Amino acid sequence: MEQLALSVSQLKEAAAIAAVDALVKSGMKLGLGTGTTAIHAIRRVAVLLAQGTLRDICAFATSFQSEIECEKLGIPFYSLNSRELAGSLDLTIDGADEVDPQNRLIKGGGGAMLTEKIAAYASIGYVIIIDESKMVDKLGAGCPLPVEVVPEARITTTRALEAMGAAVTLREAVRKAGPVITEHGNLILDIRFTAPDPVVLEREINQIPGVVENGFFTCKKPMVYISHADGTIETRGTV
Ligand code: A5P
Repeated sequence: MEQLALSVSQLKEAAAIAAVDALVKSGMKLGLGTGTTAIHAIRRVAVLLAQGTLRDICAFATSFQSEIECEKLGIPFYSLNSRELAGSLDLTIDGADEVDPQNRLIKGGGGAMLTEKIAAYASIGYVIIIDESKMVDKLGAGCPLPVEVVPEARITTTRALEAMGAAVTLREAVRKAGPVITEHGNLILDIRFTAPDPVVLEREINQIPGVVENGFFTCKKPMVYISHADGTIETRGTV
């Protein structure tokens, strides 16, 4: 009998379930990412908590989206500054827009990369869940790099990025007039470079006054769960 192809959403869910089942343990302080893949991990954690397979999870939600999902599903979540989390996490599970062969990432397609990077660096273990379409040979070939900037520095940061050779687009909101405003009250510039060096650019972009953070994740290397169209799950690296 011919096997039906899995949808992209099913691939994302499969990666999320595999990662949560293998890596999330009772009592963990758990960072929960943002996006259409990470939301499957949140849902899986909720299922395991409801079954009693998992207990005593203290979550940190990296966006309103993940916070609302936790709230809806009854997953207890806290500020990273709370007594419960005290600025550290055992594990963070998140999605990504692009992953290269060295497990370096572009994130921020959903505009949450600032809090996501804070969570990644606060975590002992870091895991990225993706469907195979996110694997690339070179970061930035397919999707732009998001740069979060304070509103007053929109023009100065645009000029500085252009002087570095980038093509810059202010991210526009959908169903709201004007630009996207991040959860930290900032703007997002989506930028493209012809030959990006992710390690150098991650550092240099953040040195421009007015830049808050950018979507290259090159230093904190995650374990990556990749869901393939043939139904297999590949893992790369360790937590
Ligand atoms: C959110 O800002 C992003 O970093 C997401 O983690 C990333 O865009 C992946 O999102 P999807 O899983 O929806 O593709």
